[in-house]
Amino acid sequence: MEVLIYDNYDAMCAAAAAAVVETLNAKPNAVLGMATGSTPLGVYRELVRLHREEGLDFSQVTTFNLDEYVGLGPNHPQSYHRFMREHFFDHVNIPPQNVYIPHGTTSNAPAFCDWYEQRIKDCGGIDLQILGIGTDGHIAFNEPTSSLGSRTRIKTLAKQTIDDNARFFDNRDDVPKYAITMGVGTILEARQIALLADGSKKAAAIASAVEGPITSMITASALQWHANTQVYVDTAAAGALTMTDYYRWIQDHKPGAP
Ligand code: GLP
Repeated sequence: MEVLIYDNYDAMCAAAAAAVVETLNAKPNAVLGMATGSTPLGVYRELVRLHREEGLDFSQVTTFNLDEYVGLGPNHPQSYHRFMREHFFDHVNIPPQNVYIPHGTTSNAPAFCDWYEQRIKDCGGIDLQILGIGTDGHIAFNEPTSSLGSRTRIKTLAKQTIDDNARFFDNRDDVPKYAITMGVGTILEARQIALLADGSKKAAAIASAVEGPITSMITASALQWHANTQVYVDTAAAGALTMTDYYRWIQDHKPGAP
């Protein structure tokens, strides 16, 4: 994994947004994998700004979101459908028919999950997948002990995740217990992955994911198998890494860098 360390959250998000722009410049009809949570908000803000001020064009883009809470309809204030509309889709020109987000209220989850996997394939696979990380090291909603070969399915949320995400709901009891999530195996098929983390609360998860053993206890560690993953962190989230000097050295001495 390529670890890229930035002085602050905004710089980290600008760099990740630049990776999206690079993907779109190379392939205007790219397939983007989208993530929710507070971490990627700055990336979406920057992409919206680039769309408004510099004409960044999303008209041929297709997107697939990682996950959705089971039981929440697309208009529920805490649904990831609503989150994505509010923070991104309502502000850029992605055709609505090109936007895919798991349906939290599907009546046949197994069939829906198979269809979702097939849609990703039919659209040519994901070119760039944006990811956050849970404090327990999860990616999407692939909680500890999820199979590293897992596909899109229903996953029971871990207590830690319910606690972490309770801040978005009126009561802890309102947090759904299940989610439909892309699997680790699904995510690993993306051609490029940008994992983002900021703040000291994510430092332990990032250190385990990047420098620990590959283990289903930290599903983000599976990204060590992925040949084109960049880890974007601020200094706080990089705080528990042991090889920071080396990562900074690589960052400053990339082949072709001035
Ligand atoms: C949820 C999402 C993840 C996200 C994580 C961290 O569990 N399913 O995709 O990475 O939250 O969220 P945050 O960025 O708010 O810390």
